[in-house]
Amino acid sequence: MSAVRDVDVVVVGAGPAGLLVSHLLRRQGLDVVVLERRSRAHVEARVRAGLLENGTVEVLRKAGLAGRLDADALVHDGLELRVDGVAHRLPFRELTGQPVFVYGQQLVVRDLLAAADADGADVRFEAADVQLSGLTSPAPVVRASTPQGPVAFRCRAVAGCDGYHGVARRSVPEGVFRTFTREHPYSWFGALAHTPPVSEELVYTISERGFALLSMRSPSVSRVYLQVPRGTRPQDVSDERLWGELQQRLGEEAPLTPGPVLERVLVDLRSVVVEPMQHGRLLLAGDAAHIVPPSAAKGLNMAVEDAEALAEALVADLRDGEPEALETYSRRRLPGVWQAQAFSDATTTLFHTPAGPDPDAAALADRLRRAALQRVLDSPTAARDFAEHYVGLARR
Ligand code: FAD
Ligand code: PHB
Repeated sequence: MSAVRDVDVVVVGAGPAGLLVSHLLRRQGLDVVVLERRSRAHVEARVRAGLLENGTVEVLRKAGLAGRLDADALVHDGLELRVDGVAHRLPFRELTGQPVFVYGQQLVVRDLLAAADADGADVRFEAADVQLSGLTSPAPVVRASTPQGPVAFRCRAVAGCDGYHGVARRSVPEGVFRTFTREHPYSWFGALAHTPPVSEELVYTISERGFALLSMRSPSVSRVYLQVPRGTRPQDVSDERLWGELQQRLGEEAPLTPGPVLERVLVDLRSVVVEPMQHGRLLLAGDAAHIVPPSAAKGLNMAVEDAEALAEALVADLRDGEPEALETYSRRRLPGVWQAQAFSDATTTLFHTPAGPDPDAAALADRLRRAALQRVLDSPTAARDFAEHYVGLARR
């Protein structure tokens, strides 16, 4: 048996949410340990989201984490909606006053880990079999097996930042949380490719053959996604099919230059919200509490927003002794979480070719989403509303 060590907060998960929470708490003088299931190399290399809202960048700047981001991120003022091969630009900065930033999630994670190294933070990688107990007591205990042996921490609060498949949410008895879930009937095949982006801005492509998104990570690296049927495996989409399908969905006017595929991923589209985002002295943040389909790129932005609010709640509770602080966290976060869910759901419906067993219902759904899309193209009011959601202004 290992000795039990006392700390202020145990953070489970070293993704963007967990690393940011621990950074913010350390800056307030709290003693924090982070337990992460995977290796450091794995966490640093994991390619996921890439679009940061201005509000997210502001949080990172305020935390002193945006040095490299401010030097390297691509700043975007608009996006392209390409409908059946015809391009329509949505100038969201003109409509809202706010840009968005293209900067890979793994770079955010590397910046957070560099900051953790700089202040000697306690981050334990390859922590297996994390177990939480006493969550409704004043002193929960968290145990894990690490490559250096078993560890145990008695703490004053646990931050559950361990993503959708994590252990934190599942450590709470049945019936405490209400979980809202929708599985969307399609998936995304994603590829990172060594080829220049087709355009300087993101291209969201709506076509009969299905949705495609042409994003980027740098002037020489593209990030592209294709709508594919549920159940597709990454190896089912050959490079040839990927580039052929992208070109057909995009239309011939924007010729692609196929390049070597560096990474391939399959993402099932789902919407999930857990209410409340707290139980006893456990608080959930990021994907542990909610999942959005990536259509509107809200997942990472919400993880950062949660992390900021969670750190504030923990400081209020642990340092300033405010009795309501932990419950306030959930009440404060949920309205914004639902706004992001609503827009992610709306864009998912808008962008994707309907799938389902009933062809008549799918044809009706297709006409309806095209009518809604036409409104965004024709009406300045609808375009502004779309832009306010896209840049995150509608939630802040
Ligand atoms: P995560 O980044 O998932 O971090 C959770 C951490 O907890 C991980 O490091 C994990 O290893 C660790 N962990 C899990 N279980 C345990 C355990 N039992 N014990 C200890 N540690 C544990 N969003 C977009 O906006 N655009 C995209 O293109 C996009 N693509 C995505 C592709 C994939 C494959 C996935 C899974 C998500 C994608 N997302 C995307 C969503 C976005 O990346 C997430 O919203 C974001 O990562 C949330 O951050 P997080 O810190 O809450 O969770
Ligand atoms: C990405 O670059 O990975 C990305 C961008 C926008 C989205 C989803 C993913 O809506």
